[in-house]
Amino acid sequence: MNLPELFSKRLILLSGKGGVGKTTVAVTLALAAARQKKKALIVEMNSTERVAPFFGLKTIGQREIPLAPYITGINLNPRDCFEEYVLMQIRFKTLFDTFFNNRFVTYFLNAVPGLNELLMIGKIYHLEKQKDKRTNEPLYDLIIVDGPATGHGVSTFEVPRIARDAIKVGPLRSQSDRILGLLTDASKTVFSAVTLAEEMPVVEAGELVSMVRKKLGIPLGPIFINAVHQTEVAKGEADQLTDKMPEKNDPLYPYFAYALLSWRRADLNREYRETLMEQHKDLECITIPFLYEEITTAKSLEPIVREWLESIHA
Ligand SMILES: Nc1ncnc2c1ncn2[C@@H]1O[C@H](COP(=O)(O)OP(=O)(O)OP(=O)(O)O)[C@@H](O)[C@H]1O
Ligand SMILES: [Mg+2]
Repeated sequence: MNLPELFSKRLILLSGKGGVGKTTVAVTLALAAARQKKKALIVEMNSTERVAPFFGLKTIGQREIPLAPYITGINLNPRDCFEEYVLMQIRFKTLFDTFFNNRFVTYFLNAVPGLNELLMIGKIYHLEKQKDKRTNEPLYDLIIVDGPATGHGVSTFEVPRIARDAIKVGPLRSQSDRILGLLTDASKTVFSAVTLAEEMPVVEAGELVSMVRKKLGIPLGPIFINAVHQTEVAKGEADQLTDKMPEKNDPLYPYFAYALLSWRRADLNREYRETLMEQHKDLECITIPFLYEEITTAKSLEPIVREWLESIHA
């Protein structure tokens, strides 16, 4: 699946080892979607507000808020998803407040395994179905979920299937069926792994992809290989740098050492990138270069956005 196909979907779920760049990729995808005039929604799943700073905000919170033209954000929180869900069933806020006091809700959410995840995925399902009241068009063209880290990512998105298998009748069963229907709909949903081109992240990404295939049945999208180092130093030059490495007290030593480090890092990334591509020949791999300027706002991601748009229009 290439980038144009990816942007034709409605729901992109991202997961990968901690710190590999899931949030960065989620924001970049939203920026590139917005540039194509697609209304994008970035969804965080009860995270510590990692998306907000990209748009100059401290927090996003559990209500959808506009972040930039064509980009909206929401940070889901199981408690609010629970209240919204119950209110959808009973429709009276006072009734909710009477029967579901804070202590009860907290107890309930902690006592039922998987409930937090089910409520948040249920909310994502409803966000996908939301229509613009004026035009009756979908409110969001593309929903990008900045999912949990690897192991947790699989268990989170496995919950609707477990619920479906465990519950035989009633509204929860039909809701789980509908959620699963969306998650496994190849025309709408993809699950993409994000990784670095390094040993452990590549191993985890491989495990993640095979778990998604085996357990989730969610269609797999491209693998994002993030923060890949490039170097100006060629292989032959690296050998020469090693041969001619000056003594440590030589003023030229730091320059030689840095050039060699730059080559080694890029070479390591190249090796793991090739391993990953070899292991997943059926999946597209999208390489994102390491950005040397500190990533502070959405503007920092402009080089990647530009590259993607160019490849889409090529
Ligand atoms: N292509 C890149 N070039 C340079 N730095 C990057 C790149 N992508 C991400 N980073 C930096 O790496 C760090 C981790 O990125 P990010 O927060 O997106 O990862 P994550 O997978 O969402 O982490 P977590 O598991 O904590 O949610 C951040 O400091 C980010 O700025
Ligand atoms: Mg993150």
